[in-house]
Amino acid sequence: MYEYAVAWEWLSFAARWFHVITAIAWIGSSFYFIALDLGLVKRPHLPAGVYGEEWQVHGGGFYHVQKYLVAPAEMPEHLTWFKYESYFTWLSGFLMLCVVYYGGADLFLIDRTVMELAPWQAILISLASLAIGWIIYDQLCKSPIGNNTWGLIALLFIVLVAMAWGYTEVFTGRAAFLHLGAFTATIMSANVFFIIIPNQKIVVADLIAGRTPDPKYGVIAKQRSLHNNYLTLPVIFFMLSNHYPLAFATAFNWVIAALVFLMGVTIRHWFNTTHARKGRPTWSWLVTVLLFIVIIWLSTVPKVLTGEAETSMTPMEQKFASNAHFGAAKDVILARCSMCHAAEPVWEAISFTPKSVKLETDREIAAHAREIYIQAGRSHAMPPGNVTAISPEERRLLMAWYESTISE
Ligand code: HEC
Repeated sequence: MYEYAVAWEWLSFAARWFHVITAIAWIGSSFYFIALDLGLVKRPHLPAGVYGEEWQVHGGGFYHVQKYLVAPAEMPEHLTWFKYESYFTWLSGFLMLCVVYYGGADLFLIDRTVMELAPWQAILISLASLAIGWIIYDQLCKSPIGNNTWGLIALLFIVLVAMAWGYTEVFTGRAAFLHLGAFTATIMSANVFFIIIPNQKIVVADLIAGRTPDPKYGVIAKQRSLHNNYLTLPVIFFMLSNHYPLAFATAFNWVIAALVFLMGVTIRHWFNTTHARKGRPTWSWLVTVLLFIVIIWLSTVPKVLTGEAETSMTPMEQKFASNAHFGAAKDVILARCSMCHAAEPVWEAISFTPKSVKLETDREIAAHAREIYIQAGRSHAMPPGNVTAISPEERRLLMAWYESTISE
């Protein structure tokens, strides 16, 4: 049944492709509208109800955009909505969460030295945290604190830092960062799904019925949009961070996450101010660079192992470790992979464990059976450039080990 491993790998790639495309579409249109909104110019003689206008040039023509605050006097004939970008970003992201972290819970989600969890428990915590995060956030926005824009943002920052810390106390560092991104992105998508779009639908219904829409719906949507604006860049950081162990697998990873949220604000501040034609606040770039330097420095503090280093194997790992081919496969891995894939790599150019994939003990090797099969058996991605001269027979051996174990 090796087809299953191949299909799973391709499903993972397809979901990622889809996710990146929808995210580009969503964030692209969101950046566009933020800049457009801030750049609107108020002029005399604008039609009734128009708040401001802007001229733009793109793709061989000039655009003349006018924004009606609340709504135009009557319903226009054609109306383009922006919502599926956001919905499909969330759905495809959730699919990836299922494929990578729920499907590979033992490897990617659960770290037994952090917390002893069964896969179903870890998955339940993951799902519950995403749902509860939205409820807490939404209630905060609707509470009296919601009227104080920066007070609310400060409070949200505290919630996010608490979540960053909480996730690192439960999951692997990699899953903790990914979940922090998913937690934040769920809030952003839910803002669109539960607040912004429904409010716009109320306004549209009023227009069709000939009623004057209540301006409060626009104000609420604006508040949620502002949060989404500041949260976008940190989310992208967390989603990409799983390629960079220094970010997620070091002692102060949750402090790093907190500083990343601040960088999201300082970078966006420069763009928001510039788009509003209110000058170019150089100080916000200086603060951003300073925050980044602190992050780099924090990442040099190594993680001290607290739990026992070698824990017992899961039933699946036991199956891989007791297969007849395991001994030979292990010899190949120790000879061709472990010089890099070690807690302290001995390969000269490698200074820390690549992608946190350690291949030294029986358990580590058994735990990564599927990855080894895809990276060094089915494909020739590993060893990189075949620097350790693995032979075709050795690759066949790694494949035989995986395939015979799963068909047992
Ligand atoms: C010269 C050092 C070196 C050797 C030898 C090496 N690797 Fe790697 N391995 C790396 C690096 C670097 C990465 C990270 C690549 C990246 O960031 O995309 C990596 C990544 C991986 C990953 C994670 C891939 C992913 O995208 O999640 C696996 C699994 C892996 N290697 C398995 C192996 C196996 C199996 C062998 C032996 C057959 C091996 N490696 C030999 C350096 C090495």
